[in-house]
Amino acid sequence: MSDLLSTEEARDSWGSKIGLILAMAGNAVGLGNFWRFPYQAAQNGGGAFMVPYFIALVVLGLPIMISEWHIGKFGGRYGHGTLAPMMYLQAREGMKPKKALVVGSVCGGIAFAVTLLINSYYNHIVGWTLNYSFMSATGGYMDHSVTTSEIFSETIQNPFGVFLFWILALIGLAFAVSKGIKKGIESWAKIMMPVLYCFGIFLAIRALTLGSPVNPDWSALKGLEYVWNPDWSHLTWTGTLSAAGQIFFTLSLGMGLISHYASYLKPDDDIVVSSIATISLNEFAEVILAATIVIPISFAYLGEAGLTQGIGLAFVSLPNVFRDMAFGNLFGTAWFLLLFFAGFTSSLAMFSYLTTLLEEDIGVKRRYGSWCIFGCYILFGLPVALEPILTKTDALAYFTEVDNWIGQYLILFLGLFELLILGWFVGKKALPEINRGGIWKLPRWFFGLLIRFVAPVTLSIVIVFSTLQYSNQGYFNLMPEYLSATPELIPWALLARGVVLFVVAGGIVISYISIKRKYGDEIRQNKILIRK
Ligand code: ALA
Repeated sequence: MSDLLSTEEARDSWGSKIGLILAMAGNAVGLGNFWRFPYQAAQNGGGAFMVPYFIALVVLGLPIMISEWHIGKFGGRYGHGTLAPMMYLQAREGMKPKKALVVGSVCGGIAFAVTLLINSYYNHIVGWTLNYSFMSATGGYMDHSVTTSEIFSETIQNPFGVFLFWILALIGLAFAVSKGIKKGIESWAKIMMPVLYCFGIFLAIRALTLGSPVNPDWSALKGLEYVWNPDWSHLTWTGTLSAAGQIFFTLSLGMGLISHYASYLKPDDDIVVSSIATISLNEFAEVILAATIVIPISFAYLGEAGLTQGIGLAFVSLPNVFRDMAFGNLFGTAWFLLLFFAGFTSSLAMFSYLTTLLEEDIGVKRRYGSWCIFGCYILFGLPVALEPILTKTDALAYFTEVDNWIGQYLILFLGLFELLILGWFVGKKALPEINRGGIWKLPRWFFGLLIRFVAPVTLSIVIVFSTLQYSNQGYFNLMPEYLSATPELIPWALLARGVVLFVVAGGIVISYISIKRKYGDEIRQNKILIRK
């Protein structure tokens, strides 16, 4: 039993600067970049989506990224790797410990729900990418008598394939996380991230040299034009909200994940340059590589119609192209392995967050804790696996509900709480901490203008309009009316809502207990006693 419990051992840390940056890039660069971004851009008018996207990157992405690095580094000084105690520490700078306990519990609860529930479906997509890598290498979707859309349905409805690749991915994740920060996560990121960028560059070059293989009116360059030449008539509120949501998802903001990794920094490690490096590596993968690979390849072979596949763009449109392309097996394998590496390294961050929660709150060592989390992901991932298998459709109502509530909505609130606490409750005291050991110092105006005003105001507007949009789409109605044409899926959507409520509530309770355990005395006396 004593081996199960960690004693006061030195906290793990990153082995090198390059390892840290690659791991952070691995955390951010994920399926959001290569799978989600292209279909979001395609569905929202291409270039017209990119305008609010870049605005959101500057006014939301950068300030929140820097804030989360700071919250994590500061929390790490007190030995915390999860968000509840980290946010408690920030909040108590501007309010009494009893109130800070509420802030920490709510923020910790959201981060808990994100890391448990987003990853419960995210791991499945990682499994699909592994399955498709295997199919690409072995010619599994090359038979023209079956459409790639039928192959996709068959893939996610086939219990053997679904469980095999999902569990293989989970075993890989549990194994990597069990080895710790330096020997596990950093080592894997140092291999996977450079390979991912090489595959991306290789595929982007292929995309740019395609010409017009099928129809003289369709070419890769026209696809690029679609992304980079905004047609203002396509600029919509829906697209603007999706762009802001995409910035959150792709940069792993509002999830607790950036702060989790930053907690393994040393007190004098830089934050500002590292935040900019993380954003730059992520955006290179997203707006340069993903935008050059997915949309232009689809456009060259399938024209604008190829872009309407939604979540099937990566899994349906591209295999359709690879089956006609010379050396399609090779390019298909490179594409799906790229997706696999991207997804795996982001999944690692969520997996590691929960393993750290077990380690820091109940003393379960990582080498055992990661296998407990493996079990949790099996349990919470089961509905995602079973829905298509049992209903024989690929509508994915459970997955969509969880993604809407957690992956698109709650993360915005967490981002807002972080900005408000840092900007208004910690206030100016945060700046010297942010700049401690900094290669570049964050200017006072940036903190005063962006972190205190522009980012929270913009984010509040995004939240209000997203709420209205959800309400108009019927998401707040007890019965998910948008599923009235497919009533057999309604129980899955209701189950998802129940699970979301249960996990968020459970997360808040767990966070409350976690903070009370660490700071019980000072909360009882309602004054700060512990300073490091
Ligand atoms: N940031 C991660 C992604 O883009 C979650 O997939």
